[in-house]
Amino acid sequence: MKKITRTTGLKGTLTVPGDKSISHRAIMFGSLSEGTTTIHGFLKGADCLSTIDCFRKMGISIEEKDETIYVHGKGLHGLSKPEETLDVGNSGTTTRLISGILAGQDFDTVLSGDASLNSRPMGRIMKPLSMMGADVTSINNNGCAPLSIKGHTLNAIHYDSPVASAQVKSCVLLAGLYAEGKTRVTEPALSRDHTERMLRSFGADIVSDGNTCTITPPETLHGQHIEVPGDISSAAFFIVAGLITPDSEITIKNVGINDTRAGILKVCQDMGADITLLNTREEGGEPVADLLVKTSELHGTVVGGSIIPTLIDELPVIALMACFAKGKTIIKDAHELRVKESDRIAIMTENLTEMGADVIDTDDGFIINSRSEDSIPVLHGAEINCSMDHRIAMTFAIAGLNADGETMITDSDCVDVSYPGFFAQLEALNN
Ligand code: S3P
Repeated sequence: MKKITRTTGLKGTLTVPGDKSISHRAIMFGSLSEGTTTIHGFLKGADCLSTIDCFRKMGISIEEKDETIYVHGKGLHGLSKPEETLDVGNSGTTTRLISGILAGQDFDTVLSGDASLNSRPMGRIMKPLSMMGADVTSINNNGCAPLSIKGHTLNAIHYDSPVASAQVKSCVLLAGLYAEGKTRVTEPALSRDHTERMLRSFGADIVSDGNTCTITPPETLHGQHIEVPGDISSAAFFIVAGLITPDSEITIKNVGINDTRAGILKVCQDMGADITLLNTREEGGEPVADLLVKTSELHGTVVGGSIIPTLIDELPVIALMACFAKGKTIIKDAHELRVKESDRIAIMTENLTEMGADVIDTDDGFIINSRSEDSIPVLHGAEINCSMDHRIAMTFAIAGLNADGETMITDSDCVDVSYPGFFAQLEALNN
């Protein structure tokens, strides 16, 4: 339980933890490579620890020394059958990506997670995997985990994905490592491309052409050094905090700004935000910058279409930001929010309404209004139940800093899924 009260003047410099998507992939691809992969800046959040745990259970030695993770890969065919069910915890990325890998092994596995994970849709990976000849079943026959995966020889496909999802794309590409021939995925809009970038650096032949990406199965992958940039999805909470909290100035260092992830920066710019990118550079194949964020007069905007996959995890905090913008903000085409760690459209609408915001939920997003042309609604504190969803907890911590009275976040420990240390960093800026 955390209690948050109104503040002004957030000041300081911080470094957010490593990117969650990149951290997962570094463990997975390192495990499938010849030689040792070293990872610097790895996110030690619960989700990525679930990925480490799964690969250790399949015989991969993964150790940590002096803030570096060492993954002693055993090659594409070096995993061994785990003795127990693989526990994927709360992590959709672990589940969907590892399923692609497991489908092509010569042993059987069972994957299961927590209550939230075991209610998220897995049909979206079961379908393409079964087209490739895989044997993946939902044990409770409800399209969700627990999943039983019986290793199988796989054939290549061209998968036209109905959903712009990096998890689906990556699952199919990873199964493609084990398939006969070239595996191709086309998605309706480009989702994050970390799998393509990183697999290429490990030596795989992956060609991207617009929204289509093709993998030719390699003979081997080779261990690499991975520098994990700061996670823009974690930085997002401090970006919004800096913009909406009066008299604030925050520098967030070493943030990954890959175009397929940085949609929030475009939206902030559209809303009139004062954010300066400093020291823009490339590290480990990913673009990175320091962000200088200052309190800004924001105005409403429309967020929809192909930008959605580039900011999908930031939409809860973008919805909060819209409550502090003049005029109307419409967020649309974001139906995927309903199948994240919680139904984020429902839970954001419920909690923002509870705090006095003017928010209407739609099938695929939100309509958020200031109460009149120039008056921003004053939020008031409330008890926030975030359904154990880490991003909802962090969003309402920022809301509470800008609300009258007390905001109580009941299940605040869930932030550890992606951002251990979040509350300590927030407090340090608030002193
Ligand atoms: C992720 C992709 C996104 C995102 C998730 C991480 C990844 O999911 O929401 O937090 O690492 O590939 P979808 O690809 O299903 O949208």
